[in-house]
Amino acid sequence: MLNFNFQNPTKIHFGEGQISVISKEVPLDARVLLVYGGGSIKGNGVYKQVIDALSEHTFFEFSGIEPNPTYDTLMKAQEIIKRENIDYLLAVGGGSVVDGAKFIAAAALYEGNDEGINAGSDPWDILAKQQVITKALPIGAVLTLPATGSESNGNSVVTRDGIKLPFSSPLVRPLFAVLDPSVTLSLSDRQISNGVVDAFVHTIEQYLTYSVNGKVQDRFSEGLLQTLIEEGPKALLPETKENLEVRANIMWSATMALNGLIGAGVPQDWSTHMIGHELTGAFGIDHARTLSIVLPAVMKVRKGQKREKLLQYAARVWRITEGDENTRIDKAIRLTEEFFETMQVPTRLSDVDLANKDIDLLIERLGQHGMTALGEHSDITLEISRELLTQAL
Ligand code: NZQ
Ligand code: ZN
Repeated sequence: MLNFNFQNPTKIHFGEGQISVISKEVPLDARVLLVYGGGSIKGNGVYKQVIDALSEHTFFEFSGIEPNPTYDTLMKAQEIIKRENIDYLLAVGGGSVVDGAKFIAAAALYEGNDEGINAGSDPWDILAKQQVITKALPIGAVLTLPATGSESNGNSVVTRDGIKLPFSSPLVRPLFAVLDPSVTLSLSDRQISNGVVDAFVHTIEQYLTYSVNGKVQDRFSEGLLQTLIEEGPKALLPETKENLEVRANIMWSATMALNGLIGAGVPQDWSTHMIGHELTGAFGIDHARTLSIVLPAVMKVRKGQKREKLLQYAARVWRITEGDENTRIDKAIRLTEEFFETMQVPTRLSDVDLANKDIDLLIERLGQHGMTALGEHSDITLEISRELLTQAL
């Protein structure tokens, strides 16, 4: 096992009816900015529950954070933050809203780094120059879409001019997060699928690398993968889709998949995500749908480097015990693709109308963004990324 430092201070309030706890979690003297997206929370009763819980608080609203939140939209929040002396953010929505709140929180107190060549106080530098954040407004979250783990991690992804850039800081990790599985009942099949697949791929990116004998991490990951494989399809079937236990298991899996626990002390890959971000940036494909296209190709092209873990994945997650090693690995990859198909997400670039001619742009962008040494061995060069994308056609 590798050395690690692990701390996850986000307090989780899980279960039906828990939104009311925000009345106690948000300090009474705070000046709160409630941030949300395009309005789904108004249709499913979440907004009303939040407003009721904040009845004793002073709060303002900022809405319109779009899926794959943009820098331009997020910067608009700075005006109300200054005007109303906001000192607390409450994010209510999916990963985009929570990620957006994180950038707003960091940008609000960003003073820049006055040392060296990166001097300047433009919040864009947080993303473009990966400036270290020293202050951020506190954030609470009410999660409405289980997928990203953003509700209890310090990561955020922001888009500007079709380019997705991540940043990370423990200072933007939500102080608390409410996870009420019943609020996920209003999600479309597409968003449920996206969430299950995103959580699945988060787990794989921290598991399917090379063994460092991290038995706890491996078995936690295998448990999450099996839970998502079992419960994900049930959330799409008419007879089980309203089942709150199904929703609860998916919701907790998604949080656990990216709250830092399973990734502590083990190598991590993230090549599928980095290539996927370019697919979203260039062609607007949903985040999870980029992952379901790229991951099978990564498994196939990186079979040699991931051999030991692919065999473990085949045996423990899919219970494949028959056949020689190559047969078992190929079967595990095929079952992964079939799982994605059951979840109604694409597994090929051609499924989203992309072809060989589109690969050049993706490779160019990967190069521009410094994504030239990806994967757990930092050896996925642009040439190998091209091979991966060609495999995914
Ligand atoms: O905007 P509203 O009206 O709320 O509608 C949203 C949005 O249109 C809707 N929705 C959310 N909850 C709902 C609902 N509709 C009905 N009922 C509900 N309960 O769903 C749509 C998609 O929401 P979005 O927040 O974009 O989805 P998701 O949670 O998948 O977040 C995706 C974003 O997270 C980033 C992605 O890159 C993408 O920008 N990621 C963040 C990560 C992190 N912070 O650690 C890691 C991930 O790998 C990912 O990169
Ligand atoms: Zn993801």
